Formats: sequence, structure tokens, C-alpha cells
Amino acid sequence: MDRIAVRGKRPLSGTVTISGMKNAALPILYACVLVNGVCTIENVPNVRDVTMSIDILRDMGATVKEVAGNTFEIDCRPVKQGTSNDELVKKLRASYYLLGAELGRFGRARVSMPGGCNFGGSRPIDQHIKGFEALGATVRTAGEVVEVEAPGGVVGDDVFFDTVTVGGTINIMLASVTAKGNTLIENAAREPHIVDLANFLNTCGAKISGAGTDVIRIRGVKELRGSRYAIIPDMIEAGTYMVAAAATGGCVRIENVIPKHLEAVTAKLEDIGAIVEEADDAVIVTGRERLNATRIKTRPYPGFPTDMHPQMSALLTRAHGTSIVVEGVYENRFKYADELKKMGADITVNGHTAVISEVEELHGAEVEAVDLRAGVAMIIAGLIADGETTITNINYIERGYDDVVGKLRRLGADIETVRD
Ligand code: EPU
Repeated sequence: MDRIAVRGKRPLSGTVTISGMKNAALPILYACVLVNGVCTIENVPNVRDVTMSIDILRDMGATVKEVAGNTFEIDCRPVKQGTSNDELVKKLRASYYLLGAELGRFGRARVSMPGGCNFGGSRPIDQHIKGFEALGATVRTAGEVVEVEAPGGVVGDDVFFDTVTVGGTINIMLASVTAKGNTLIENAAREPHIVDLANFLNTCGAKISGAGTDVIRIRGVKELRGSRYAIIPDMIEAGTYMVAAAATGGCVRIENVIPKHLEAVTAKLEDIGAIVEEADDAVIVTGRERLNATRIKTRPYPGFPTDMHPQMSALLTRAHGTSIVVEGVYENRFKYADELKKMGADITVNGHTAVISEVEELHGAEVEAVDLRAGVAMIIAGLIADGETTITNINYIERGYDDVVGKLRRLGADIETVRD
């Protein structure tokens, strides 16, 4: 079984360059299904969720060419409706963007229920369904397959989400961008990747305003044309290196970032005693021998991101005092706590809350990446632990981090991927 081996206790130092954002690249790739032309997408991260999505699109008839490093030309005009491969689609959650994209282009969609990280709680799509229905579609679920159909075409309307949902907001944007009439999404997610998707669609001729606020207005257009677009930097990848720098007591310049997107992580790191300096498109994080405990509650953007909480928990295992981490987005995201305990961490999970008390030292152990962010949290724990940590199930990490082992090695970490 492939694994990552980390020998800890080396402060990270140097410069790391952040890749394009996975969670922006994915909807933008599926959005190409709506475009009547060739899209050239730059800054596409080399992560497995992206390569699997490209495989899904190619399998449906798209022509996808890598024309330069991280730049792809995508022509989805030949894509045939309802032809997504069930086995491929089940491997990643973002494939459900085909529901919105196919519905928008063909007036109907058929997609197997998506897979993705299993955090130990349910990840329903009732809000996506509610949104599609508001746009005049009927939705049927037969076994593991979701079918959506708007025989007369999609018609814009008001969609009010009961809960803030990134995926739901994206799916309704995709379904409505070429609909008849206007769509208003209220209680929309405000994440930077929602804005990135809107910017991409607008460069293709869409009329979307308000992305980045909780009200998004979409004036349906007849057609989208091909365009050239560069994906924003990955704020979660950047945040992960910020936390790793602070946790190891190192000093790392993290380049190709949008500091505004990192404010919640920056504020928390400063709160515990790390130093964060901002430049135009970089942040420099300096750790300290001793960091302090804190309280964190994850929330939708601009709150502290749920996708950063496992990494912060790994850091907090050694912070002075007792920290409280409350998960405010998912039902459960603490499966990693048992893995950190194998390394000597003192964590008690009760419902949505983890209490993390300082221990003198973490020690290396064999641990599992139970999901993507949990997996990278194990790497951070390994970087601060005494001895060797071996992380299994690393396919999760490779789904979302572009060359994490290479990037950390260049920062001085003693880390390698061991392939069997
Ligand atoms: N929810 C519902 N009903 C819905 C949709 C969502 O109840 O119809 C609930 C979910 O169960 C969850 C909350 O709303 O408790 C938020 O879910 P959301 O829809 O916002 O999440 P998502 O779109 O499934 C994306 C990212 C996740 C990230 C979340 C939150 C992608 C492909 N995935 O998921 O990223 O955690 O937003 O920011 O963009 C990751 O990259 O590691 C990852 C898991």
C-alpha cells in the first residue's frame, strides 16, 4: 500500500508556491459543458480530483488537451447528455456539478450519486434538488441515480437556500446561466470559488452579478462562448502551509496567494502567537517555540473554513493550554481525532466539539488519512512529532494537494512517498 513517511522535528523554511484552487477548478471544468466553444483554462492544479473530472468529461465526448503545464484546452461541444460513467462519477463529489451543467445545456441530466470525502455524517443534496425544482425541473432519484428534467427548458426564478451550500449554489448557477429569464439565489455561499466560477462564466458571456455576497443575480443568456481564464490560488492549500510553518516553528514565504482569502486563518494564527506578514501576493508565516491554545468554530466563508480545521487541530495538540474546536458546517468531521491519539495527542470529541489539551510531545506512529484534509493534518502532526510517522490511504491526500511531498521537501521536511 502506498504511504507517506515523515520524520519530524525540522522547522520548515523557504518559499512555497501555491497551485490553482481545486474547489474552483472542479466547477469550472464542469461548467465547460455549457460552453459553445473552446475554453482555455490556466493554473489548473495537478490533483487527482481534477484528473478524474477530466476523465469523466473525455469519456462523455469532450476534447481536453494539456497545451502547457497546468493549462488545458477544453471543448465540450461533442459531449452527449446522460453519458457520464457511473463508476467514475461515484469516485468524487464534484461530479454532481454535471447535474446543473447538463440540465442547463440539454434540459435534462442523469448522474449517479457522487462520492467524495466521507466525514462520518450525511452529505445530503436536498437544497440542490429544491433549487432545480424552483427552476421548473422535476427530479427523480432511482437507486443511486439522480435524474433531473425540465422538458420546456430551465426557467429562471427565485431560489432560497435553507442552508448555505457551496455545491448547491454552484449547481443552481450552472443550471440557470443559460435559462430563460432571471434567477435570484438567496442565502448563497460566498466562497472565493463561487466568485471564480461567476468570473469564468462571465468571461464566456454570462450575466452574473453579486457573487461573493449572499444574493446572486443571474440574467439568463442564449449562449456561452469559449474564453481564456486562470483559476485563483488555492486558499486551503495556502492555509495548510501556513499552519505547517507555524506548527514546526519555521518561517515560510507562501507565494501566489490572495491574502484576503486567508484572513480567517491569519487571524487565528496571530491569535495563538505566530507572526503573519502580508505582501501583495504572498504571506510569510513565522512560528514560535511555543504557541497558545485557542477556540475555533468553523463557518461558511468568510468564517474559519471547515477545510482547515483538521490541520489546525494537529497544530493545537502542542499549543500551550486547552483548545476548543467546534465544527459548524458538517455533522461530523472528527474521524481524524483517533489517528492523532495514536501519536499521543490528548483529544476528546463530544458531538460537534473537540477539546484538545497540550501534550509535551507527539510521537511518530502508523496512521491513516481518513479523508483529504484529515490526511494532510497527519502530515502536519508527523512534521512536529518525534520519530517517524507513516500515513496510509494517501490517495485521499493526492486527490486535493498538488505535489505536497515535493513542496514540503523543498521546505526542508524529511518526507517521502513510498510506493509498493
Ligand atoms: N447541505 C445540506 N443540503 C444540501 C447541501 C449541503 O444539508 O443540499 C449541508 C451539508 O451536509 C453540509 C453543509 O450543508 O453540512 C455545507 O455543505 P456544502 O454544500 O457547502 O459543501 P459541498 O459543496 O459538498 C464543498 C467543498 C468541500 C467543503 C465544503 C464547505 C467541493 C468539491 N467541496 O463541499 O471541500 O468542505 O464545500 O466549504 O468544493 C475539501 O476540499 O476537502 C472539501 C470537503
